[in-house]
Amino acid sequence: MTTISRAAKFAERTSRLRASTIREMLKVTQQPDIISFGGGLPAPELFPTREIADCTREVMDEYGAAALQYCVTEGIPELRNWVADRLRKRFGQPLDRSDILIVNGSQQGLDLIAKIFIDPGDHIVLEHPSYLGAIQAFDAYQARYLSVQTDEDGIVPESLEHVLDHADPFPKFLYLIPNFQNPTGRTLAHERRQAIVRICERFELPIVEDDPYGELRFEGSDLPPLASYESEGIIIYLGTGSKIIAPGLRVAWVATKDAEVREKIALAKQGADLQSGSLAQYIFLRYASKAEAFEAHVARIKSTYHHRRDVMAEALAALGIPGLRHNMPQGGMFLWATLDGIDTTELLKISALQKVVFVPGVSFYPERDVHNGMRLNFSNAGDDSIRTGIARLGEAIRSFSHQH
Ligand SMILES: Cc1ncc(COP(=O)(O)O)c(C=O)c1O
Repeated sequence: MTTISRAAKFAERTSRLRASTIREMLKVTQQPDIISFGGGLPAPELFPTREIADCTREVMDEYGAAALQYCVTEGIPELRNWVADRLRKRFGQPLDRSDILIVNGSQQGLDLIAKIFIDPGDHIVLEHPSYLGAIQAFDAYQARYLSVQTDEDGIVPESLEHVLDHADPFPKFLYLIPNFQNPTGRTLAHERRQAIVRICERFELPIVEDDPYGELRFEGSDLPPLASYESEGIIIYLGTGSKIIAPGLRVAWVATKDAEVREKIALAKQGADLQSGSLAQYIFLRYASKAEAFEAHVARIKSTYHHRRDVMAEALAALGIPGLRHNMPQGGMFLWATLDGIDTTELLKISALQKVVFVPGVSFYPERDVHNGMRLNFSNAGDDSIRTGIARLGEAIRSFSHQH
């Protein structure tokens, strides 16, 4: 009897699909006594559970069968109106419902964008480091990556120009997260935004602007999205309800003025899932339309995360470990720490024994070339857990340093 290799049956594109360190770690964090700064989870105690239950009942009473029926691929028109309104307020430029497509999480937006742009071997330009979930989505289409130098103020425009001047093949798009980036919590400086839009316009490089955290600013002033600058180029903006209402609804949106891109994304979405769930869209819309309660809810999320960031930063400072540095993001859910001369993947093995986990920075670099970073999530743990977890992390760092 001959054994046929199962590997031979799978498409070439699956060879790049690796188990995500984050997902694997989320399994570990199911254990109750582990404190996790690893996931990117919003605080579940802030979910508007009762209000969503009320909205569900109201939607069923008002729309009945229509809320359970198929809807158009682009999403229910009233929800697209709501998104256009909200973005108009932040963009300060006219957007209308035809510019908006509802997707099943911005993660689906990334997959669909990859599907319509990426041929095997194509280059994509990324921040250094970048969001692991985007890299996973692009990997499935056999992308390769060009990293742009990134500092505390986000992508360095001169580095972007340099990369584009020398790129072969020329990349398909630039992917970036301008606000409170995942994983670093960094924000692209105001003065760099216009510069990056102009460079991409000059090189005719589309921009994919992923903005799940922009609404979670708890200090400083909002900065204009890249998509708000006048440009001849293609700019595709992704927003989501995951961090302002709840990720379980999977309601997110793609906004672009480019009709051809919108049409291709809609066709790709038809092939993937026909449409996002009608019921979730109606429930989301009902909740978000109760403007006063909704804004109060977003404000509560921001003040809670603000406080938790402070608790984490104070706890880190109190450790007094030389060579441990961290930033102070003005919003979002993540803080980025570095440890001089320490490989944080190795550190994680010890810290997991101390019952605290984080995501080692190397996971976010496609070249896997930087080893001393840590992504620390501050949104998902209460004050006591944050303090205990950071104290455990301090112990882990100390015992790691003794052993090496
Ligand atoms: C940068 C970034 N993009 C996209 C997503 C996916 O979000 P969604 O729940 O809308 O799919 C996340 C989730 O953490 C993220 O951090």
